[in-house]
Amino acid sequence: MGLTVAFRSSRAVPIPGHQVEMGNPGERCVDHIIMDATEADAGLLASVIRESFADVAERFGLTPENSPTHPSNCTPEWVRSAFAKGVRFYLMRAAQGVVGCVALEHAEADVCYLERLAVLPPFRGHGFGKALVNHAMDRARELDAHRVEIGIISADVELREWYERLGFSVTTTAQFEHLPFEVTFMRKVLMNNTIS
Ligand SMILES: CC(C)(COP(=O)(O)OP(=O)(O)OC[C@H]1O[C@@H](n2cnc3c(N)ncnc32)[C@H](O)[C@@H]1OP(=O)(O)O)[C@@H](O)C(=O)NCCC(=O)NCCS
Repeated sequence: MGLTVAFRSSRAVPIPGHQVEMGNPGERCVDHIIMDATEADAGLLASVIRESFADVAERFGLTPENSPTHPSNCTPEWVRSAFAKGVRFYLMRAAQGVVGCVALEHAEADVCYLERLAVLPPFRGHGFGKALVNHAMDRARELDAHRVEIGIISADVELREWYERLGFSVTTTAQFEHLPFEVTFMRKVLMNNTIS
């Protein structure tokens, strides 16, 4: 699966050889494509992740000193190391250019972790985030995963509620020595259908 193309308009022309997803009428998601990223995209991915998580860092008082591993500090080297571990990255492009990305780690035979979900601030609220989650779910199904797991900042209640609307449920919470915030873990059991 190299490239998924999603079009809201039925007049849109599919790219030959690539899967086409038609957006449902009434959905907010505007035309976009989601591509498999490669190591050559490490710089681009790192900047999309850094810029998308900057407001999260600001909201929760996270700095490079108190949270050096937070995605707001993401570097191309982090992304390259993740590729080396087998993490898959997907880049989303819309008419405006690159608008976001997501990563998927095949952690265990039947479990994938959804990571680095990021939509650049000017492009939020158009359904891109949901489309990226849906894309990661579809790729996880192809890997025969039975569930997808995420970890979020517990205090980010809006984000937790958003994931709940996408079918995720809270499993547990945990405090880590290297993080100044509590982490809430959520999971979604995969069915055959994409998120509606
Ligand atoms: C979470 C994120 C990817 C959503 O992207 P998006 O393109 O705006 O998502 P959608 O358009 O599909 O959905 C927007 C909805 O999410 C809600 N939402 C999601 N996370 C939110 C948050 N942290 N704070 C406030 N609202 C949030 C919006 O209010 C909006 O609600 P609505 O559907 O009721 O209008 C984006 O906000 C982002 O990149 N945030 C920073 C990075 C981050 O927290 N990533 C997740 C790490 S696990």
